[in-house]
Amino acid sequence: MKIAVAGTGYVGLSLAVLLAQHHEVVAVDIIKEKVDLINNKQSPIVDVEIEDFLANKSLNLTATLDPIQAYKGYYK
Ligand SMILES: NC(=O)c1ccc[n+]([C@@H]2O[C@H](COP(=O)([O-])OP(=O)(O)OC[C@H]3O[C@@H](n4cnc5c(N)ncnc54)[C@H](O)[C@@H]3O)[C@@H](O)[C@H]2O)c1
Repeated sequence: MKIAVAGTGYVGLSLAVLLAQHHEVVAVDIIKEKVDLINNKQSPIVDVEIEDFLANKSLNLTATLDPIQAYKGYYK
């Protein structure tokens, strides 16, 4: 299943890393630095478990600034 997550703060990023263990997750944010960190498997927030998941788990997770990339396929 493809899942879009809007916002990569504490709520969105926690959900994104958990869901990305078993689903294709595209996380959209408006802050480039956050998107770049996530795509480099680094957490933009201080959280031991999120940092561990990003660094060590096999995740199907992409971060993007582009809402179309995140949401395409959900509407026509
Ligand atoms: N943290 C909590 O315990 C908690 C509890 C209940 C409700 N909430 C609500 O959940 C939401 C997220 O909370 P949080 O703590 O993760 O917030 P946060 O501020 O840590 O993260 C929000 C993220 O959304 C991004 N963002 C802002 N506008 C955006 C947009 N148009 N498109 C995509 N991304 C955008 C921000 O850049 C930021 O990375 C908030 O509305 C908050 O009020 C949070």
